[in-house]
Amino acid sequence: MTFDAFSLRGRTALVTGARRGIGAAIAAGYAAAGADLILLARDAAVEDTLEAIKQNGGEATVVTADFADPDAVEAVATDLARERRVDILVNNAGTIRRAPAAATATADWQHVIDVNLNSAWAVTRPIGAAMVERGAGKILTIASLLSFQGGITVPAYTASKHAVAGLTKALANEWGSAGVQVNAIAPGYISTDNTTDLRADPTRETAIRDRIPAGRWGRPEDLVGAAVFLASAASDYVNGHVLAVDGGWLAR
Ligand SMILES: NC(=O)c1ccc[n+]([C@@H]2O[C@H](COP(=O)([O-])OP(=O)(O)OC[C@H]3O[C@@H](n4cnc5c(N)ncnc54)[C@H](OP(=O)(O)O)[C@@H]3O)[C@@H](O)[C@H]2O)c1
Repeated sequence: MTFDAFSLRGRTALVTGARRGIGAAIAAGYAAAGADLILLARDAAVEDTLEAIKQNGGEATVVTADFADPDAVEAVATDLARERRVDILVNNAGTIRRAPAAATATADWQHVIDVNLNSAWAVTRPIGAAMVERGAGKILTIASLLSFQGGITVPAYTASKHAVAGLTKALANEWGSAGVQVNAIAPGYISTDNTTDLRADPTRETAIRDRIPAGRWGRPEDLVGAAVFLASAASDYVNGHVLAVDGGWLAR
């Protein structure tokens, strides 16, 4: 007997923001699990990710859009939905701006909401609609611990991550009966460029690490198993779930 419910062979996965960090790790992991990739990136300079995908036996094409411009993202996603069969969508591109709420400029608020929420929506609606028409698909959004908690001086980020968790559940309700599963991963504190400032602040770094039951920061590779699971047939009856991959943070 063989068990290959976790295999992504024959599937095409669209991953946003895969030049570095968590998106790059997921794209490389998907290639190792058998998928081919479409990378939707800010620009075409994604050589390291392309090389990792190739090393893992996958093929990739690159499409570009700036997620600060949701209309441009929607145009690209609409073309993709027409031209390619996307079996798996990973909404990963994201940004963060740290400042106390009273000192947060509206332009910074708008930028974070555009990148993290409005552009995720701009990709998900056309790609998800095509999945619903075909009767199959997997949508996975990278949420956050700040989909559950308030965070410290990142109001727009927290609002955007609560919103994508809500959208995950709303779309799961609508699209589940059409064979499309919509889930999210809430990563814990992961060593990427997103958390450089926190790791450079000795007080915050120690406070964060001390609270993590695993006793260490996460690595982008720590997210790959959950991302493969939620993209594969192994999760066909999992829908509308936000899966924490946080070294135990939320259990504390
Ligand atoms: N690191 C953590 O602890 C953590 C925790 C919870 C959730 N997350 C989430 O995980 C996701 C990935 O973050 P990461 O930690 O891997 O951070 P990262 O290393 O900073 O990567 C962010 C990715 O998003 C892309 N991106 C940012 N702004 C963009 C824009 N305007 N247009 C197109 N792409 C854009 C970046 O593209 P470029 O490379 O071209 O800039 C990059 O590939 C984000 O949604 C983040 O909120 C991270």
